[in-house]
Amino acid sequence: MWNRMGHASVHHILCISMVVLFVKVTLVGAVSLELSTTTLTSSGATVNISWNDLESLTKYDWLGIYTPPESLDNHYIGYINLSEHTSDGKGFFSFPAVNMRAPYEFRLFRGYPPTADTALDEDSLPIPSTVTRLAVSHVVEFSNYNEPTQVHLSLTSNPTEMAVMYVTKEPVKTSVRYGKESDNLSHTSIASAHTYEQKDMCHAPANSSLGWRDPGYTHFSKMIELEPGVRYFYQVGSTESGWSKIFSFVAPEINGAETNALLFGDMGTYVPYKTFNWVQYESVNTMKWLQRDLEELGTKPTLVSHIGDIAYARGYSWLWDSFFQQVEPVAASTPWHVCIGNHEYNFPSQPFKPDWAPYGKDGGGECGVPYSMRFAMPGWTLPAKTSNVPDTKNLYYSLDSGVVHFVWISTETDFTPGSDQYNWIAEDLKNTNRQKTPFIVLQGHRPMYSTDNKAMRIMFTTKLIEYLEPLLVEHKVSLALWGHVHKYERTCPLQNKICMDKGVFPVHLVIGMGGQDWQPIDQPRSDRPSAPIFPQPPWSMFRSFEFGYIKLHANKTLMTVRYIGSHDGQVHDVVEFSSPILEDHESADPDLGARESFGEASHSVQADSMFTGISMFPLTVAFVLGGAVTGVALWMYSRQPLYVRVQG
Ligand SMILES: [Fe+2]
Repeated sequence: MWNRMGHASVHHILCISMVVLFVKVTLVGAVSLELSTTTLTSSGATVNISWNDLESLTKYDWLGIYTPPESLDNHYIGYINLSEHTSDGKGFFSFPAVNMRAPYEFRLFRGYPPTADTALDEDSLPIPSTVTRLAVSHVVEFSNYNEPTQVHLSLTSNPTEMAVMYVTKEPVKTSVRYGKESDNLSHTSIASAHTYEQKDMCHAPANSSLGWRDPGYTHFSKMIELEPGVRYFYQVGSTESGWSKIFSFVAPEINGAETNALLFGDMGTYVPYKTFNWVQYESVNTMKWLQRDLEELGTKPTLVSHIGDIAYARGYSWLWDSFFQQVEPVAASTPWHVCIGNHEYNFPSQPFKPDWAPYGKDGGGECGVPYSMRFAMPGWTLPAKTSNVPDTKNLYYSLDSGVVHFVWISTETDFTPGSDQYNWIAEDLKNTNRQKTPFIVLQGHRPMYSTDNKAMRIMFTTKLIEYLEPLLVEHKVSLALWGHVHKYERTCPLQNKICMDKGVFPVHLVIGMGGQDWQPIDQPRSDRPSAPIFPQPPWSMFRSFEFGYIKLHANKTLMTVRYIGSHDGQVHDVVEFSSPILEDHESADPDLGARESFGEASHSVQADSMFTGISMFPLTVAFVLGGAVTGVALWMYSRQPLYVRVQG
């Protein structure tokens, strides 16, 4: 979604110079560093940075991005390598500036080859040298630091409501005004504002001056008494803060006859610069296809579910701001639901830390605080502040959407029998109205089943199977979704690692392919030659490296899940479920399901063959009907990958 400029030609720079008044010029030594503007009018607005007379360019020279401007030289939020943007001493970089409630400044440095003493960042890349500063830009201000930004929706436990959150710099009074027509936003709901502080974080980098930036105030409000299935228009803000643009969403249908959802894990954030951590370039493609699907769904109520490892900020706070800026085109018009991942939470003193759990310090010291304060899932209330163990929110909850009962759980906090969460899951599944919502879809971050079976993961999956699988089986959960492993993987309907061909048993999908880097599973990677290759056990039906997400559609008799690849936006796997409460198999239409599944699989094979030039295996398709009177799972049964991509 960002436009990253490559090397700038002299002609390009001259053209820009003719149309833009460069109002900022700073000379340090012989190098000039110029910016196209002094003021940015909205978050994401572009500032063009150019430099001239950069002599003796080396591949180590770099441009640092700073906010606020008083940051130390080595406390940039990111940098670019000048050699990638410079020709004949002149260069250009177009920077979309996220409104982080403070001005920006840019500094140009001469770099030097790293030595054995050079510090490394989180990705083992050398921290660039700040010894020789060549130029400093003037400061770029935003015209309004209280501009409402990062607008995102979520469902509440009341199906006639929609919650909205957004961020301003100060705790200004704001509200949401909404209505059925964009030019008549006649309803108003006052928002509350809250924040969190550097001392609320648990360790570095989150609580250090390197990673910490003031998060501003997050505002929370609810639009109420919504009519089911009706499109509403809304905007947030006030005279004091200014108003956001007008967004719209479709209100949930309380008794809707169908369900639509787009689901994935581990998506992350893209920023057009290097920072201290790896960022997720592929999240851009995932967002693109999500927007396409939502446009196609039109007025059908839909929800997005992002099941952990959300922004991948890991203590570098600006990545949260960039994440919400990036997802706003979807999240301001579609409820964006989450569950907690290791990268939002894990910290050394977390209260639940059994020896079989591979909990480390993957949260970068955030210990769930930004996650708790920036999202509001059903039942959310403002977390109470404590000194050591934050009151983490949004851990487990559920809601009905059409004919599906969605459940989100936390694999990062206590789920053992007798725990609050375990008891809640048991009660929630038991009390689900299967006449209204015949399908149950349960979601958590760390997988119960995955063939990425590192030793510590095996211990953890064993506990998930031991403690939680009996609940899933007892209550006929149709589908369990997991993230954490960055791929797509589908199991057979199973129990305790055994495929079951009769009765209703959960199918598990790993869907951690939203954007974070691939992981080795069943094919060698040229960039990680020593990475292990994991064999495919009998319960693993299909797995793919491709980034993407799943698209779920359900009516009362059939739930269909399609795996969409982000490289082409096409369907690459399909799994279908008939209602687990149907007593008569004929009320579902297995023939229809078969035709649909085979048709889509065929289409995807054709497209993939063209894309890769790899001849595809003939599909082995079997449609398995369970014999239990209580229901049946129907799925496309193929051990051959529908699609193979050569690592490029
Ligand atoms: Fe994870």
